[in-house]
Amino acid sequence: MLTPCDLSPRPGDLESIETASRDEIMAVQLARLQWSVRHAYDNVAHYRRAFDAAGVHPDDVRSLDDIRRFPFTTKHDLRNNYPFGMFAVPRERVARIHASSGTTGKPTVVGYTRADIAMWSALMARSIRASGGRAGMRVHVAYGYGLFTGGLGAHYGAEHLGCTVIPMSGGQTERQVQLIRDFEPDIIMITPSYMLALLDGFRALGLDPRDTALKLGIFGAEPWTNAMRAEIERDFGIHAVDIYGLSEVMGPGIANECVETKDGLHIWEDHFLPEIIDPATGAVLPDGELGELVFTSLSKEAMPVIRYRTRDLTRLLPGTARSMRRMQKVTGRSDDMMIVRGVNVFPTQIEEELLKFAALSGHYQVVLTREGRMDAMAVHVEARPEGWAGGVDGLAAALAARIKEMVGVTARVVVEAPGAVERSLGKARRVVDRRRE
Ligand code: DLL
Repeated sequence: MLTPCDLSPRPGDLESIETASRDEIMAVQLARLQWSVRHAYDNVAHYRRAFDAAGVHPDDVRSLDDIRRFPFTTKHDLRNNYPFGMFAVPRERVARIHASSGTTGKPTVVGYTRADIAMWSALMARSIRASGGRAGMRVHVAYGYGLFTGGLGAHYGAEHLGCTVIPMSGGQTERQVQLIRDFEPDIIMITPSYMLALLDGFRALGLDPRDTALKLGIFGAEPWTNAMRAEIERDFGIHAVDIYGLSEVMGPGIANECVETKDGLHIWEDHFLPEIIDPATGAVLPDGELGELVFTSLSKEAMPVIRYRTRDLTRLLPGTARSMRRMQKVTGRSDDMMIVRGVNVFPTQIEEELLKFAALSGHYQVVLTREGRMDAMAVHVEARPEGWAGGVDGLAAALAARIKEMVGVTARVVVEAPGAVERSLGKARRVVDRRRE
């Protein structure tokens, strides 16, 4: 069996594969792909059935492109095999289970062997390092601990890198603020929307959020824009970098931005083979084109995934700070896309526009309703305290005009008082769809 991952470099070193040539990376990928496809076929009834039905066999993988002949895997397949049917190792070898709560019905269950957890920790350490983190730094983890992969994923990675971890988890905003002041972490790992709630927390206590030891924030688990990055960097006086992942494929740390470039997220391609497809036809699109991101795991033991459809929309770009290809910041999930009177709209497009107004904060929610037979969209935004004090006359009309011009939809904008828009302790709920109520 192939050694699933190379743990030989000392934690904290840049691994040689991060700056290897494309040929070297592709050679590693092909050997691992052949192993992973065979492992899935030999040990998971679902894959054996699906490959047989499609007339493909692990022996058909002679080049990386041969993966295109294999069928996709969807969340639906994972649900149909609930809870442990997608596992490729005996249950006794599964060292940990995580699960993501679906919007409907059963959660999606994932499993890890000890080697998988070691690989995940090493990739999270690589991600934190790319973000600017180093051994010896203090890391405040405000991603939720538990079945969600955010907290424990960040925790193991930060420990692996040699950091001091503060396992705060999500919630208890005032306590978070206190511990950030008292324990003086260098790094915070948190969802961008919850970081804005912390900002409110600092201000409510009359504290300057720039006046902490924080140097760096590693933000992910939900879409966020470069406008939001600029906002967080200014308000906290830190670097803000993007981390991506999903539990079905591993958890956080599948791709991460480098702090020196902040130009999209390098996919750790030695462990995950990315493709971009047309979500409607399933056709593979060339690098640079926008489509749905699909991943094949190359080294996972407990739960290999072959051509897993993430439903996240992005494009593949060439490497810059590292040799591995980048994915552009995720615009949104295909499920988050609102179709309002025929126009496709993502919450991130609204975010981009509203943050152009200095009087508005980054807290917002889009509410969709039916008016007669037409869709109606209301955008609830929140004034910053100084903005509210200065008066918000004309602001709603000005933002509505920008949304009409830039996004192409008519929205009713409601400017709310500071604190009025729903807060989340983790992933923000950006869209409330009441069209079928
Ligand atoms: O959110 C894993 C994670 C934890 C990633 C902490 C980053 C930091 P799930 O709960 O399975 O896993 O949700 C995965 O969240 O398919 C995307 O739609 C979205 N997502 C995750 N990271 C980003 C990001 C975790 N950086 C789903 N930008 C994914 C945009 C993201 N969307």
